[in-house]
Amino acid sequence: MGGQVGNSTQWEWRVGWEEKDMSKRGGMRHIYPFTNPTLILYSSPEKAMLYQAPRGTSDILPKEQAYWRYIEQKVAEMAQLYGYERLDGPLFEDTALFARSVGEDTDIVTKEMYTFEDRGGNQLTLRPEGTAPVCRAYLEHGLYNLPQPVKLYYIASIFRYERPQAGRYRQHYQFGYEAIGDDDPALDAEIIDMAWQFLLSVKLRSLSLQLNSIGCKKCRPKYVAALKAHYAKHTKELCPECKTRLKKNPLRLLDCKKPSCQKTANSAPKTIDFLCPECAEHFRRLKKYLELLGLPYTVNHHLVRGLDYYTRTVFEIQPQGGGAQSTIIGGGRYDDLIEELGGKPTPAIGFAAGIERIILNLKKQNVPIPPLPKPPLFIASLGDEAKEEALKLASTLRRAGIGVIEALGSKSLKAQLRQANNLGARYAVIIGEEELKAGAVILRDMTSARQQAVPLKELVERLVSASPHS
Ligand code: HAM
Repeated sequence: MGGQVGNSTQWEWRVGWEEKDMSKRGGMRHIYPFTNPTLILYSSPEKAMLYQAPRGTSDILPKEQAYWRYIEQKVAEMAQLYGYERLDGPLFEDTALFARSVGEDTDIVTKEMYTFEDRGGNQLTLRPEGTAPVCRAYLEHGLYNLPQPVKLYYIASIFRYERPQAGRYRQHYQFGYEAIGDDDPALDAEIIDMAWQFLLSVKLRSLSLQLNSIGCKKCRPKYVAALKAHYAKHTKELCPECKTRLKKNPLRLLDCKKPSCQKTANSAPKTIDFLCPECAEHFRRLKKYLELLGLPYTVNHHLVRGLDYYTRTVFEIQPQGGGAQSTIIGGGRYDDLIEELGGKPTPAIGFAAGIERIILNLKKQNVPIPPLPKPPLFIASLGDEAKEEALKLASTLRRAGIGVIEALGSKSLKAQLRQANNLGARYAVIIGEEELKAGAVILRDMTSARQQAVPLKELVERLVSASPHS
């Protein structure tokens, strides 16, 4: 995608996403992926900095934090509503955990993992997804001894070496909910409802819920054989990647977006026509429950998901008309995973959401976000003695739970009040030498500019009783 281009002496700026690495032009590239559209600034070569964040990663600047707090708060609220408890795990795990669970032939494992050997010769990988680590923790800490299902959630940074573009990063953040230890389709319906309600609760609209069942280890082999036989008749039309998929990961054939492969996918057999009676009944009940809950799902016969551990239910939520690349939430059942990782057969289901993608969509849909609270009080002072008093007062107020920003240096009163205004302070306390001699300070309402002298002795009590936290 191109965009507008402008120039100044220091900056060349572009609005929109540019795929090429423009740092070849000699300057430095600064990407602001959370603006909509993505803003890319190139500083001119002579202004270039020594370092920048690695490609596909970004700094979440203070002006973005309101979005992040907004989402994190909703994640915790939803967890409470549906009975999930938080689990935080390590940033890296044994490489074998992901190879085994996500699948040796998946894109994630073959191309995208950040894998390294540590000084002790251990093969480790920065977590490329959150489900396998949760299952590892479930087994390691004997959570199977608790009443089932065990419901856990996480907010975690995820690392995938992908080609960066808007909504796709090499380090991104996901939150996820996993319910381990029950195969009731009512749990599938509950978790899909939770995913849907989450997006509604952050005020996203125009969403599409895609659903499919990909069967179990009993019925899937028959489907895969039929799929392979179908594709074998069309090998000439397939892209090189699909030719490999046909041999290594046939389910993923249905996912290919290339027009020639899409034609073959459209006429391919459907997973739901090959389900064993148990899987068919599970899917039938799930659909019934979703209808009971009023969730507007569409059965998508091409939906298979990119990780190998899924069984039966798979689902995704996308912005309407967005396509798979813009998927906000993805999830499904993984009834065999715990067993594959060394546990007893334990059915489970979960989903994860990309936080950056939620933010992109909130911005696209102009959803208003509550601003973060700021310290309500600014203390301005004139002269050395007043400054000492200001220092003491600020400390007293903070100990009483009132946020304060103090003027630093020796700026004029006008400059100090301008700063108070810029910081959005509700009140300013002005400590002048004259007032101080009389044991008083001036309290200024920054919105109305009304001022009054208040005895220093009464100030803390007055501010504490006026504070919304008291
Ligand atoms: P996933 O679909 O690979 O599923 O990722 C979940 C979500 O993370 C995606 O829907 C998307 O919003 C976001 N996401 C993925 N890759 C990127 C990226 N490179 N940049 C930005 N956002 C991204 C899983 O990882 C499964 N563990 C989900 C799950 C949980 N299944 C069962 N339980």
